[in-house]
Amino acid sequence: MAENILIVEDEETLRSNLARYLAGLGHNVRQTDSRQEAMSLLDMESFDIVLTDMRLGDGSGLDLLQEITRLAPFAVTLVMTAYSSTESAVEAFRRGAHDYLVKPISLDELSERINNIAKYRGLVRQNTVLRQEIQRRHNPLNIVSRSRIMADLLQMVRKVAQSASNILVTGESGTGKELVARAIHNLSPNRDAAYIPLNVAAIPDTLVENYLFGHRRGAFTGADRAREGAFRAAADGTLFLDEIGDLPIHVQPKLLRALEEKEILPVGSDRPIHVNTRVVAATHRDLDKMVTEGAFRHDLLMRLNVVEIHIPSLRERPEDIPLLVNHFIREHCNEMGIPIRLIDEEALKCLISHEWRKGNVRELSNVLERAVLLCEDETIQASDLPADIMEREQHTPLALKDAVRKFEFHHVTSVLETVDGNREAAAQLLGVSPATLYRHMERLGLKGFQAHTR
Ligand SMILES: Nc1ncnc2c1ncn2[C@@H]1O[C@H](COP(=O)(O)OP(=O)(O)OP(=O)(O)O)[C@@H](O)[C@H]1O
Ligand SMILES: [Mg+2]
Repeated sequence: MAENILIVEDEETLRSNLARYLAGLGHNVRQTDSRQEAMSLLDMESFDIVLTDMRLGDGSGLDLLQEITRLAPFAVTLVMTAYSSTESAVEAFRRGAHDYLVKPISLDELSERINNIAKYRGLVRQNTVLRQEIQRRHNPLNIVSRSRIMADLLQMVRKVAQSASNILVTGESGTGKELVARAIHNLSPNRDAAYIPLNVAAIPDTLVENYLFGHRRGAFTGADRAREGAFRAAADGTLFLDEIGDLPIHVQPKLLRALEEKEILPVGSDRPIHVNTRVVAATHRDLDKMVTEGAFRHDLLMRLNVVEIHIPSLRERPEDIPLLVNHFIREHCNEMGIPIRLIDEEALKCLISHEWRKGNVRELSNVLERAVLLCEDETIQASDLPADIMEREQHTPLALKDAVRKFEFHHVTSVLETVDGNREAAAQLLGVSPATLYRHMERLGLKGFQAHTR
């Protein structure tokens, strides 16, 4: 099958030989000698395979590898290197390379690798689905991720889950704090005891103490039944205090005592009760700042955050987005009882480059729920996404020459498409001679242009 291949190599002869050879095998080939240009090509077009040199005139191919994950999440990368050093190969794999070739490049070997990749790509799709299925069945955490930063975090979660320490989970809204609290419980030796979540922000200030520590019957007007309270309900298990930053200041010393002495005093009672409850607290607020403002007790904070687990925002781990996207599409399709939708590359790119600020993972899930609803065939397109996400934000504005190039690229491509790739007709429409058009096409990486058959 014809693959769309991008060659990034600053050695002119090698590059054109490779391009000629691969085009001869029937692939669609684009080529460039610079990392910068490679990035704009990756941004504008869709590639199946990227064949890149490890060392480029304007930067390391290794840096390009990271960009590829962001710009072309579906592409498979083959690295070419002049040195068969294990270190550089390991580093290339770590940054997402699929395979590597040592120079001088054997063309037979190259074609074999490309064939393998083509087979591999067919299997990947199937495999991702299977792997997620397995992960869902065997992963007590339900936390989907592949980024280094989350892997480290999960390792920490596994470790602290074994201890009895109090844990504070922090992170922006929707980053998965509750999920992590639940994971700590599920991985703890007390996983068979109760897990009781209590959202402090959702309880009226005057009742927080009752909810936490319970009350005796008749403790106040209307208390016609004794209430056990969350601490006792979670005895020997885990009490998850969500939105701990909203804990009223008058209740704070009481919680401190419960944590320090492992003793609580139900409202209206003078008999302390011993409780062995592990507390995991969470907040999206800056507790240190609240301490300086006098809204949160310093000693209580010290007790709560014996271990602090900070969940990074989704912006800090774009590598997780493709997996989360598949996960949520599946989840929402299952909920709606419709066949699992796919997502096209442009839409995925929009989701990866979006600056997730409002609600992080929760917002991503909501966006996909909406997209699944709007989507009219089996594939989610960029147009099924909210407008602010569909318009891919550039992190830094393009340099003028790149912006011009981007425009030229789209314009020339669309004219060529309208005339089914006929160079002469296109040149006439564009008001240039065929020779000039050829020159522009070469410059824009459009040399091997073929119109899509409609
Ligand atoms: N890594 C992840 N894998 C799968 N689902 C996730 C992941 N992170 C978050 N979610 C999902 O995103 C949603 C928000 O997560 P959660 O409620 O844990 O966030 P939170 O940090 O507690 O948010 P808030 O600050 O608003 O209370 C949930 O539906 C959760 O299942
Ligand atoms: Mg929460």
